[in-house]
Amino acid sequence: MEEMRIVGGKRLSGTLKIGGAKNSVLPILSATVLLNGKSILHNCPDLSDVTAALGILKSFGNKYDRLGSDIIINSFVPVSCAVPDELMRQMRSSVMFLGSVLGRCKRAVISTPGGCELGPRPIDIHISAISKLGVTVKENKGFIEFSAESGLKGADILLNFPSVGATENIIMAAVLAKGKTNILNAAREPEIKDLADFLNKAGAKITGAGTNTVIIEGVDELSGVEHTVIPDRIEAATYMTAVAVTGGVISLNGVIPEHISAVSSALSRAGCIINTGRDTLNLVAPERLNSVKNIRTQVYPAFPTDAGPMFITAMSVAEGVSVFSENIFKNRFSFIDEMRRFGADIITRGNIAIINGKNCLTATDCKCTDLRGGAALIIAALKAEGESKIGKLCHIKRGYQNITDNLKSIGADISLL
Ligand code: UD1
Repeated sequence: MEEMRIVGGKRLSGTLKIGGAKNSVLPILSATVLLNGKSILHNCPDLSDVTAALGILKSFGNKYDRLGSDIIINSFVPVSCAVPDELMRQMRSSVMFLGSVLGRCKRAVISTPGGCELGPRPIDIHISAISKLGVTVKENKGFIEFSAESGLKGADILLNFPSVGATENIIMAAVLAKGKTNILNAAREPEIKDLADFLNKAGAKITGAGTNTVIIEGVDELSGVEHTVIPDRIEAATYMTAVAVTGGVISLNGVIPEHISAVSSALSRAGCIINTGRDTLNLVAPERLNSVKNIRTQVYPAFPTDAGPMFITAMSVAEGVSVFSENIFKNRFSFIDEMRRFGADIITRGNIAIINGKNCLTATDCKCTDLRGGAALIIAALKAEGESKIGKLCHIKRGYQNITDNLKSIGADISLL
């Protein structure tokens, strides 16, 4: 099993180009099920989750090619309306194929998603929303069957929580439905707007994506298009935090600064100087970060849960005590036990982490607990004096392309074993 070796204590400095957003490319790949003909997607990251999504498309009979960061897909009606169980288990986000398969075939079968490293991830919001579109839902022996024999019909859907995945699933189920669907209390994450932009180019009529009210007028058909996936705001946040922790300087290219403004503002409060251009961001870190008294994760545009673990690592070497509250996922703090192996002083009480910043961390061997927790451990190893080894890199491969080479290019002593 591959491990990452890092000798910490180096000040990182340089320029990096940010890749396409994992959380955009996945729903967009799912949405290609709704189209007829050839689509070309640019800026697609090479990640294991993307490979898993392509595996699902392949199981539907779709043909695709990957050329560098381009994915070319030929779409037609899926040969099956069931997402294979083993592929569903490989990637929790495969639930996002529900909306597109149902929208296209008027029937979809998925297996019930189990728990994952972030705790139980129910799909009750997806199910209750989708059932409003004239869909019957039956659960049987671990499978859920959705069907709308006389076609899907637009409806008003009020979400009791602005779930990202549920908002995306409703959009995909509603684009080919009869009539108008209004999603109220919709999630506003930038990836939802990217999905809507992709579908609108293909002929859909979606307005309001990126606000809390999304309106979808059903259309008869959609055709293949060319689209460039937006930059990955969490990848950007990860490199910003890594550099901040080492007291370094970074220029990021290919970013949308507005998408990372909550992270930029938290790092500014910690003492970093951040300047942005149209698609660039420069960060200059102080020798030692200040603590940040109160950081809360919440839905976009607030501080993103996906950047939380990295920020906790940053605060573990800041001057003073920081308080971090996680308000989206129950098991977000699993990585903290591994952080303690580096000598970090972090106490957790429910969804609150109290971080007593230390002068330095000590190198250790540890294992990634989940994708973003794993990124937080890499950052800890970059700061810690001495050689650390990090295992269970399969989590990292879900969401970071070329992280080893990227960090090496800005001065990290890092390699794969
Ligand atoms: C997406 C992102 C993930 C990010 C999260 C929150 C993708 C592929 N993943 O995940 O990286 O961390 O948004 O920004 O885009 N919930 C329910 N019932 C449901 C649906 C969700 O209780 O039916 C709960 C979840 O368990 C979680 C919270 O709502 O506690 C947020 O989930 P949601 O916004 O749906 O996140 P995902 O779409 O799964």
